[in-house]
Amino acid sequence: MCGIVGLIGSPNATNIVLNGLKRLEYRGYDSSGIASMGADSLISIQKAVGKIAALEELLARTPLPPAIMAMGHTRWATHGKATALNAHPHRIDNVAVVHNGIIENFQELREEIAAADITLQTETDTETVPALIQLALNQSKSALQALQAALPRLEGAFALGIMLEDDPKTLYATRRGAPLCVGIGDGVHYIASDPLALAEHTNKFIFLEEDDIAVLTTDKITLYNGNGQEVTRPTQLIDLSGILATKGGYKHFMLKEMHEQPAVVSNILAAYLEDDVLTLPALNWADITSVNIIACGTAYYAGLVGKNNLEQLAGIPVNVDVASEFRYRNPPLQKDGLFIAISQSGETADTLAALEYAKRHGQHILAVTNTPTSSIARAADVVLNIYAGQEIAVASTKAFMGMITVFALMGLQAGQIRKKIDSQTFTAHLQALKELPAKLTQTLSNDAQHTKTADLFRDANSALFLGRGTLHPLALEGALKLKEISYIHAEGYASGEMKHGPIALVDEHLPVVNLASSSDGLLEKTISNMKEVEARHGKVILITDQTAAQTLDADIAKTATLITVPEVPAITAPMVFTVPLQMLAYHVATMRGTDVDQPRNLAKSVTVE
Ligand code: G6P
Repeated sequence: MCGIVGLIGSPNATNIVLNGLKRLEYRGYDSSGIASMGADSLISIQKAVGKIAALEELLARTPLPPAIMAMGHTRWATHGKATALNAHPHRIDNVAVVHNGIIENFQELREEIAAADITLQTETDTETVPALIQLALNQSKSALQALQAALPRLEGAFALGIMLEDDPKTLYATRRGAPLCVGIGDGVHYIASDPLALAEHTNKFIFLEEDDIAVLTTDKITLYNGNGQEVTRPTQLIDLSGILATKGGYKHFMLKEMHEQPAVVSNILAAYLEDDVLTLPALNWADITSVNIIACGTAYYAGLVGKNNLEQLAGIPVNVDVASEFRYRNPPLQKDGLFIAISQSGETADTLAALEYAKRHGQHILAVTNTPTSSIARAADVVLNIYAGQEIAVASTKAFMGMITVFALMGLQAGQIRKKIDSQTFTAHLQALKELPAKLTQTLSNDAQHTKTADLFRDANSALFLGRGTLHPLALEGALKLKEISYIHAEGYASGEMKHGPIALVDEHLPVVNLASSSDGLLEKTISNMKEVEARHGKVILITDQTAAQTLDADIAKTATLITVPEVPAITAPMVFTVPLQMLAYHVATMRGTDVDQPRNLAKSVTVE
């Protein structure tokens, strides 16, 4: 989603911003722009629609004047189409602003601004922000006072970078409900919505708190809280050395990240298992009576797998909800309940808001995240890192693997503490997890079957994914992966529900992907569903393990297209079955020539609700 990067103190400011914007490309965007403050104390702006390359070309043709202060933005359109006019920075008179988030009261503000004879040029909510600041400046306030007067008028979520011609040697930044950090370099001070944007320049960061205003000059960083008091915030050292991500010889980041999954599982086991003893931060599992798991997108499906783990291994009832539904339903929560927020980025706006709701209602908060410095991690009582490393492809793969692996360990830990698992079963589960990296590597090497099956989707407009038990969330995730990157409409369904609707879609054009494992006792039922599809001439695809494949009756074995995975116990079946679903989506997408790593309209981190 939108990204911000800015700095003061380097003669190379515009280029540093441009490179920072490139680092943020993976988050998804549709236009970009840069503002710089020239030596003449005048702001210049260039903006372009499309990839950063378009902005780069524009800057090559029409360079910005040399500047030691600049700020840039990648925009993911919310209010107003993806045009150069609507792209950021937005400027009113002497004030330029880059903005992540949504100003919810922008209509009301537009009327007020129009009444003050300022004409807004764009369709955006953002343009109201420089206008409000300019109006405050007109009251002959200092730049800081103008910000302190204007910012409380904004409703919604925002992270802002601000430059003013009235104060040409200062870069301002603020945030509420959207992340923003200050980077500390050698004689250079930075702002960014994501530390990754500054990976080449610093590893020292200050994360702004709600309504903080950061005032950056070349030699000083001053912070004010929402009450106008000068404050200090901790400086954090973040090791970004491994983060300067490259494709490492793979055609796409997504492919590389799928191949990193065995390593992610190994990282998790190394972090949370020592001499067969689980070392996850202990929760008071013995007293927990219920759990709410909240997340969005792929992380939500990981939560559904987690529900199976906690219910089956530890006997704890679990509710799983998408954050955007949970947060507005005002659900009653049992006092001292456990609330688990799952988020790769740790910045998803709805997940964060649901977490804040749970916090206000006395819940104990556990964050399962790939970003331990994120807003969600910082707001949680306990953090479980999934150790997946930076995920660049918009379609999440290795983070999903990390999440479901952590939930398997969490289920085991809870089951052990609640005395629901005897030591023999515990050891068997651990053994399965230890063997998982090798099983994943084996599954990843099965590319011939994945590409052959992908061909069945060449002309498909729609596809169905069916699974039962722990494989049901995977059917949902498989459908999501396919639609995200190939743009084929796909639905995931519980196999048992097929007769209640989706069967009406089945004809000779519809690929139906069935997931069946020999480890869950549900194989026969899934085979019956497949036969029903076959009887209606659907294209039957079966992802199953080698043992189950051998027991198939001759008819199915002849007509179904098979992808086989290694046989594993139920605890690791979701991980192993995940791989062919990801691979299938990947190969269908490359066959159809879509932008695999940055699919249209999608954002990696959804920081607006
Ligand atoms: C976006 C991404 C998905 C991701 C979801 C939740 O929609 O495109 O890949 O699953 O957000 O993100 P989170 O960072 O909270 O896991």
